[in-house]
Amino acid sequence: MSHSIKIHNIGNYMLRNYLLETTQGWIALDSGYAGGFEAYKKRLAKLTPLDQLKFVFLTHSHNDHAGFLAELLAESGARLVAHENSIPRLASGVNVMPDGTGFTSRMGVAMHGMMKHSSYPPVMPDENAIILKSETDQPFLVAGLPIRIVFLPGHTADSIGLFLEETRELLCGDAAGNAIIAPARQAVLMEDARAFAESWDKIIALNPSRIYPSHGNPFPVGDLMKFRSRLDHLTLFYPKKD
Ligand SMILES: [Fe+2]
Repeated sequence: MSHSIKIHNIGNYMLRNYLLETTQGWIALDSGYAGGFEAYKKRLAKLTPLDQLKFVFLTHSHNDHAGFLAELLAESGARLVAHENSIPRLASGVNVMPDGTGFTSRMGVAMHGMMKHSSYPPVMPDENAIILKSETDQPFLVAGLPIRIVFLPGHTADSIGLFLEETRELLCGDAAGNAIIAPARQAVLMEDARAFAESWDKIIALNPSRIYPSHGNPFPVGDLMKFRSRLDHLTLFYPKKD
């Protein structure tokens, strides 16, 4: 059986830059850190011309995902697809960390200062942007592409992922991770730990064939099943108030 969507990655182990090749052009997931656009363009050019990028799907508005989003949208002409909660965050150009945001490791707390002060060029969606208000908004399915948007809050309030219906592959953003920066497939930070756990329950129920996180290597859903109970007894680390 042949599938109509192909997953590419032009990032690295720590930060993946996924691209979906579809029958209707290319979909980029996120951008990368501010200042990374020229290098990204060179890697993209080996796969496809920039104007073949039809959509940029934003998994959430952190600086490592939205850093050169403004440039990517402007130069490609692609349509932004983003959660409505991303919009004020993107307009601020900084990582918003609501009260109660906790970190899953001490190293994460150490990274907090760095993250909090990381800014990026603000993004103002144009009239072509597709702003998602609920999971009933499914622009890719409506366009005839077998790609379902899944809301996965917890890491942030605007976290969303993509489920490829033909292959049952899930691109989860930071709703789970598999790099050394956080333990047991967790994200390095959680705005809402309970919502994060519920998003895992949602992923497990979805039963994807493979999960592609933004940080670290792809992994099977069995990993989340194995580590799920840990989310009920999480020790989170909190930065000192400044
Ligand atoms: Fe993130």
